[in-house]
Amino acid sequence: MESSCDETSAAIVEYRDGVFEIKSNIVASQIETHRLYGGVVPEIASRAHIEAVSSITTEALSEAGITLSDIDCVAVTTHPGLIGALLVGVNFAKSLAFANNIPLVSVNHIHGHISAAYLADKTLRPKFLALVVSGGHTSIYVCEDSLTLREIGTTRDDAAGEAFDKIGRVIGLPYPGGAALDKLAYEGDPKAIKLPSPALAHTLDFSFSGIKTAALNYLNSAAQKDEPINRADVAASYTKQIVDAIVKQTSAAIDETGLDTLVLAGGVAANSHLRKALEELCKNKKIKFVVPPKSLCGDNGAMIAVSGCFEYLAGNLADTSLNASASDDL
Ligand code: KG4
Ligand code: ZN
Repeated sequence: MESSCDETSAAIVEYRDGVFEIKSNIVASQIETHRLYGGVVPEIASRAHIEAVSSITTEALSEAGITLSDIDCVAVTTHPGLIGALLVGVNFAKSLAFANNIPLVSVNHIHGHISAAYLADKTLRPKFLALVVSGGHTSIYVCEDSLTLREIGTTRDDAAGEAFDKIGRVIGLPYPGGAALDKLAYEGDPKAIKLPSPALAHTLDFSFSGIKTAALNYLNSAAQKDEPINRADVAASYTKQIVDAIVKQTSAAIDETGLDTLVLAGGVAANSHLRKALEELCKNKKIKFVVPPKSLCGDNGAMIAVSGCFEYLAGNLADTSLNASASDDL
């Protein structure tokens, strides 16, 4: 079960002989609802999760051709995310598990995003490097084992997804701006507008507030002078700087750790420019590149089920006191 932001999802995943297989992965997106407001409205998100959660679970079971008695474990995202949204999934999963006598496990959303890579590459095994780029995170981790992440780089302020969405909204693209900006960037000149790099020197960290402000200043100053702006040039220059910064820090992380596999995960992993640039980087460094298909990059229940399976196998079972948390720690 996944309900941390604006997607309600229920999935059935089977684990056999070290290999995960998706039996069903139902995602009810609230994007159309939040588009009216230009961003996720937490209260509306919680209500929409409540409306969807029961029916998508029934649908997931029916598509997988099983009943609740076939389920070995219920896994649910408990953190991080919007607290009201998370609580819907957590309370539903708790009721489902305890009413039917099924073990319950708690899953960290970030671990979930990375676990989508096990669905993309059946041979993937830790240790590997993982880059998580989403609406709330831009972080580089060493995955020590399937349950342990060691953060070696992160954003000091906004996340890349948030930075894409913000500028997308300001230049009039529909919410969420990330996907629309991705397409528009192909039509512009990536060298047209000078913007600061989000890669912080001498670290593996990022800061996206500077590039966001610089892009906003550029747009505001053009508006004040009544000068037309070329939206495609903005999209191309902004995307190039963000992608270059992520590639720079990831390249340094590969050199620093000497790991031979890079996993790209999170909603922004759907960005075609980023996928291409990281594929190229891994080719040059002669390391393996694993990225889930776009359908498994955004929030979905299947990635949570994979992570939950690792928790279950490690014996990390939850009880009725299980709660949700908005922050990275439960
Ligand atoms: O992982 P996710 O679904 O939710 C969070 O956990 O945050 O990520 C959502 C983010 C949004 O900011 C959205 O604009 C971004 O992923 N995104 C993209 C693309 N598709 C989704 N950003 C850039 N290019 C895309 N193609
Ligand atoms: Zn996410």
